[in-house]
Amino acid sequence: MTATSHIIGLLLGTEEDWPAAFEEILLRLGPIEGADGSRHTFDCERITIEPFGLRDRPRYDLVIDRLAYWYYVPREWLKKVALMDGVYLLNSPFTFQSMEKHAAYCAMMRLGLKVPETVLVPFKNPVDNARYAYTAARYNRPFDLEAIAAQIGYPLYMKPYDGGAWRGVSRIGNPEELHAAYDASGEMLMHLQKAIDYDVFARSLSIGAETMVMSFQPHQPMHQRYAVDHSFLSAQAGAEVVTISRLVNAFFKWEFNSCETLVASGEVYPIDYANACPDVALTSLHYYFPWAMKTLVKWCVFTLVTGRRAKLDLETDRYFAIADEPGMSYPEKLKGYRELADAYFDSERYQDFWADKQSRLDEIVLDWVAGPDFDQLLIRTVQLVYPADEHDKFIAHLRGLLGLWVRDETARLATA
Ligand SMILES: Nc1ncnc2c1ncn2[C@@H]1O[C@H](COP(=O)(O)OP(=O)(O)OP(=O)(O)O)[C@@H](O)[C@H]1O
Ligand SMILES: [Mg+2]
Repeated sequence: MTATSHIIGLLLGTEEDWPAAFEEILLRLGPIEGADGSRHTFDCERITIEPFGLRDRPRYDLVIDRLAYWYYVPREWLKKVALMDGVYLLNSPFTFQSMEKHAAYCAMMRLGLKVPETVLVPFKNPVDNARYAYTAARYNRPFDLEAIAAQIGYPLYMKPYDGGAWRGVSRIGNPEELHAAYDASGEMLMHLQKAIDYDVFARSLSIGAETMVMSFQPHQPMHQRYAVDHSFLSAQAGAEVVTISRLVNAFFKWEFNSCETLVASGEVYPIDYANACPDVALTSLHYYFPWAMKTLVKWCVFTLVTGRRAKLDLETDRYFAIADEPGMSYPEKLKGYRELADAYFDSERYQDFWADKQSRLDEIVLDWVAGPDFDQLLIRTVQLVYPADEHDKFIAHLRGLLGLWVRDETARLATA
């Protein structure tokens, strides 16, 4: 019998909560047997930043990256290990660098998704380049911002083409607000986007072949944004949100990403789906945190044991062929996209792989979350995240929600 040991590298910034959870679940899971009877063991290491030769061989078989979206040393290292060493990365660093919001909007519009009407407007302030004045004088056409906004219709959103964390996002109801927001945009490059007056906001977190669709309240404080609600969408809208999330990910080769969709009168509008470092904090995901950690472990283990290879090319033609198919209805196209996405994620094989191991993993995670070690993690996390006078409140808040998960999960496993 062969034995293979795999090293998973974690590329981390300020987070301590989920890496500790991930390491703990992996440790408790122990070795896994492959379909051919081979034995696989897993170790986790936190990657340090240092000079690297472009021909150096890395120690890692798979890397979970949480850093490269702002720190360029690891970003370039990731590209090197993806191209030269075949290290498995959950998100392609190539598409994440080039496919900010704007490119992702374009790609999904190209596939016929209901991305709200969006216009890119030139910078408000001059670009910092000696050639700008001449170029602008010669080639920048004056434009009528108010006319563009009127064409889209109020209310609308002005937001950076590559945004994140609500930086520079504003809701605009009239021409005065339009000019104020544009004047304030300065050196940021902005989209104007039609506002969708939605009934529900769905934020879905996808990890490999699985997706959790959660009801999201964007205007609540962080710890209350994800609502525990298991039936906030119709079955049809829920399935559509899952398909769109998987489609975006399969299209760009992203495997750890969150997607925001607005649902209005049963129609599903995607508005934000390029989050290289999706929020998986215990303090924001709370009830859904055990699912996220379990699924991250499942996807990494599946990938390593089955020898899944990362694909670096996009093969967009296969998606565009469906988009361009004459006479195909929107639901039929979604079905076609879903098949491509399921094939990319090897969904059936993933389900089969876990079928005989799932109940053991479920027990391990339930046992851990219900026990004292998890409570210690919860306390440590609150102490790191919140000021001292709020510790008691947030510890009680999180214990309540995780206690609810433990009760629901216990009941689920009892009937399974
Ligand atoms: N077209 C739209 N219709 C309605 N609401 C919108 C629209 N675009 C943005 N919003 C609102 O503005 C918020 C921020 O917009 P968006 O998600 O595009 O920016 P972001 O900077 O990526 O935010 P985050 O990092 O929190 O996801 C959304 O969560 C939503 O509440
Ligand atoms: Mg967003």
